[in-house]
Amino acid sequence: MSFLEIAKSRYTTKKYDPTKKVSEDKVEQLKEILQLSPSSINSQPWKFTIVTSSEVKDLLATKSAFNEQKIKEASHLVVFHVISTKEGFEQLRMADAAEGSKMYYNNFLKPRSEEEVTAWLKNQVYISLGFFLAACGSMGIDATPMEGIDNLEFDKILNQDGTYKSTFAVAIGYRDTEDTNQPSHTPKTRAEQKAIIEIR
Ligand SMILES: Cc1cc2nc3c(=O)[nH]c(=O)nc-3n(C[C@H](O)[C@H](O)[C@H](O)COP(=O)(O)O)c2cc1C
Repeated sequence: MSFLEIAKSRYTTKKYDPTKKVSEDKVEQLKEILQLSPSSINSQPWKFTIVTSSEVKDLLATKSAFNEQKIKEASHLVVFHVISTKEGFEQLRMADAAEGSKMYYNNFLKPRSEEEVTAWLKNQVYISLGFFLAACGSMGIDATPMEGIDNLEFDKILNQDGTYKSTFAVAIGYRDTEDTNQPSHTPKTRAEQKAIIEIR
C-alpha cells in the first residue's frame, strides 16, 4: 500500500473487536518503531508504557472518561510519557548526547524558561505519536490516539515516580466490523487544501 493509501484508510477507531489481539511479533516491531522515532537534536525525551495486562488496562480505562470502552476492548494500550523537567532532561538525555546536540541545546534551548523547554520536550513526544500512528496504519493495526485521559491518575496507576509524566495514550487492536467511524462508513473530514497549503 502506498503511504497515501495508508493515510486514507487509517482512522481513529471508536469500537474494537475484543477477541482480536495484536501479535507479540507485531508488538516487538512497534517497540522498535517507537525507539526509532525522530526528534529534534535526537533529544528523545520520551518513555512508552505498553500495557498488555487486561487488569491494568481496565484500571486505566476507568480514568479515561469517554475513551473507557475503547481502552477496555482494544488489544493493548500504549502510554506516551515525557520527561517532566528541564533538569531531568539535561541529566537523562543531554549528559551523553552527541556534541552537536549539546551545543545546540546549550545555545538555543537551555537559556529558555522551564515552561518553554518542557513545551519543546512535549512537542518531540507528539512526533513519535505521528510516527506510531502511520506505522500502525502500515501494519494493518487499528489505533485510537487519546488525549482524553486523566494524566495524573495514569501516573499513579503506572507507579511513576515523577521523572516522566504521561501525556497521551494510543489504544491499538482490530476494529469491530460495525465501527461507524471507519472511512467506508464515515468519510474523513479535513480542511480544504487551498485553506491549508500554499504554493509559492
Ligand atoms: C493528539 C490527539 C488526541 C486525540 N484524542 C482523542 C481522544 O481522546 N478520543 C478519541 O476518540 N479521539 C481522539 N483523537 C482522534 C481525533 O479526533 C482524530 O484523529 C481526528 O478527528 C481525525 O480523524 P481520523 O484520525 O479518523 O482521521 C485524537 C487525535 C490526536 C492526534
